[in-house]
Amino acid sequence: MKIAIAGGTGTVGRHAVSSAQQRGHEVVVLSRKNGVDVIDGTGLDQALVGVDVVVDVLNTTTLSTKKAVNFFSTVTRNLLAAEARASVSHHVALSIVGIDSIDTSYYAGKLAQERLILASDVPHTIARAAQFHEFAQQIASQTTVGPVTLVPRTLSRPVAAFEVGAHLIEVAESTPAGRAQDLIGPQNETLVGMVRRMYAHDGISRRALDIRFPGSYGAGLASGALHGDESVSRISATTFDDWLGSATRVR
Ligand SMILES: NC(=O)c1ccc[n+]([C@@H]2O[C@H](COP(=O)([O-])OP(=O)(O)OC[C@H]3O[C@@H](n4cnc5c(N)ncnc54)[C@H](OP(=O)(O)O)[C@@H]3O)[C@@H](O)[C@H]2O)c1
Repeated sequence: MKIAIAGGTGTVGRHAVSSAQQRGHEVVVLSRKNGVDVIDGTGLDQALVGVDVVVDVLNTTTLSTKKAVNFFSTVTRNLLAAEARASVSHHVALSIVGIDSIDTSYYAGKLAQERLILASDVPHTIARAAQFHEFAQQIASQTTVGPVTLVPRTLSRPVAAFEVGAHLIEVAESTPAGRAQDLIGPQNETLVGMVRRMYAHDGISRRALDIRFPGSYGAGLASGALHGDESVSRISATTFDDWLGSATRVR
């Protein structure tokens, strides 16, 4: 199978690329570093020639509702239109477990993305996963001020990005299903607890403070909605503590 991975240089994308390659697929990476800009369409049609499945793990980092909706709507429209021109037979998109009631900020972009896909004629599967274990690293790199990291109060059920990447390739190999089974981690965590254990593991002496993020986005993060529903979800194997010392962790 020829699989295009949009965002294949990112946190989860690089794992999706290696999983697809290990399973014998031909892989095309769509990213600006590889000469494809999905926002303005540069290189997109050429990159999709002969592609069977597109896996979308594109991302932007923003808490602005307007910017998130603009980014995810634009890339999704552009990808789906290019896929229709190239007769791609399956669009697979990664979304996030438990966001339905948090239609604001970054998650408003993800929900806008899902709605466009559901309304599309391109055969598709939306695969939702819980927050990544890597989210602890991403937050620490964005919210550290001197000796302190300000951690938004978040209850989640984190999963290692390499397991999400492998799951996406299994979905890509399957028949378009509309929606895949949610993928969640083996145990519930608090984000501040993850950051503190990461610092202890890495020998970093820095305080991590649990801060309730304001507004409906903050309420959503702290609500437990991001845990997902373990009675209907696929549960991954790697705990956060196992991941901290694992070879799959990219620092
Ligand atoms: N972080 C989490 O905990 C989590 C949990 C569940 C689901 N997700 C979802 O997983 C997806 C991927 O997240 P991530 O953290 O792996 O992303 P990431 O590390 O931020 O990587 C983003 C990727 O998108 C590419 N990209 C951005 N703008 C582009 C453009 N205009 N044209 C082409 N490529 C572009 C980047 O490559 P270039 O810079 O080279 O263009 C990069 O490969 C997101 O949709 C996110 O919502 C994340």
